[in-house]
Amino acid sequence: MSSISAETLLKRHQKLSETLKAGGFAGAVFNPGPSLVYFTGMHFHLSERPVVLLFAPGQAPALVLPELEALKAQGLEYELNAFPYPEDPSLWGAAFEKAVAAVGLSSGRMAIEARSMRYLELGFLQDVMPEVKFVTAEESIAKIRMYKDAEEVAAMRKAAQVAQEALQATMPAIKVGASEREIANELTIQLLKHGSEPEIPFSPIVASGPNSANPHAFPTDRKLQEGDLLIIDWGASIEGYFSDITRTFAIGEVEEEYKRIHEVTLMANTAAREIAGPGITCGAVDREARDVIEDNGYGEYFTHRTGHGLGMEGHEDPYIRSDNTLPLETGMTFTIEPGIYLPGRGGVRIEDDVLVTEDGLESFTDLPRELITIN
Ligand code: CO
Ligand code: CO
Repeated sequence: MSSISAETLLKRHQKLSETLKAGGFAGAVFNPGPSLVYFTGMHFHLSERPVVLLFAPGQAPALVLPELEALKAQGLEYELNAFPYPEDPSLWGAAFEKAVAAVGLSSGRMAIEARSMRYLELGFLQDVMPEVKFVTAEESIAKIRMYKDAEEVAAMRKAAQVAQEALQATMPAIKVGASEREIANELTIQLLKHGSEPEIPFSPIVASGPNSANPHAFPTDRKLQEGDLLIIDWGASIEGYFSDITRTFAIGEVEEEYKRIHEVTLMANTAAREIAGPGITCGAVDREARDVIEDNGYGEYFTHRTGHGLGMEGHEDPYIRSDNTLPLETGMTFTIEPGIYLPGRGGVRIEDDVLVTEDGLESFTDLPRELITIN
């Protein structure tokens, strides 16, 4: 759970106001999700009862929420007007109406996040703001969250550390005969034991043998065998901030080509980490990794982008894609995760979490990247 200071929240409101004004928006609405936490410090789950934050520059934000959660909006260290509604759905519209009146939003363009806004919330909003045009502003809002402050960076550093410790504690369970599911279960337990919040960013990927050739495999009952490559992709959550790490292991003696693709992937990972820094575009980072893999003849087996932004979401801006012309700036956090996947045989991925600093890059992750053989 986050404990974001009022000072930080007000700074974020200021940035949001500037962004909305620049985009010609009268205001913004948020429903439960990372942005709502980011701007209020409050956590809500998406449920059948709508929760909506209405924000207009220069006004105290208004929050529509069910009465049973009203306590969350009390005793805040910044100004916010709460409009709780009772259980009877026929009374919910009235709470929306009061909230809209409180922030003075009756016309103009209203920013929404298309990926999180549901028809449930939008329906109530449209009823009480018939003149307002709802427009997706996903990218502008993502841009605000893309620059991490010192508190956010500290949480992410810790999330990486906790995940790494959890993997180390899981190592004894990784052996011939253990199933992917057993390893994933053990890793999940170790993540929680080592301090991750219960809402881990995603359930660990444990993919062995031919399954490791599928970048988004789900753990199965397949048991580890001599000669397998094993990909483990996992993360922890600290104060709502995520880590997302991948390491690849050899189970006993593996084919020469498997060692080779690991070597090439590691070279690509290293090259991308070395070039990334302020002023370098996301596209250039992707191409740096991709060139190494292509030059070594495995281009067609590197089937995804080199990385993605990381923070309160497992995937967010900036995306490390070859066509992304966005230059990296201090405070951005993302993954570097090249991979090579030989269909039907096995795959390799090496994923690190990094922060752009004034003089280059800091890697939150420092577990050995070499191919570790498990006997
Ligand atoms: Co990952
Ligand atoms: Co990732």
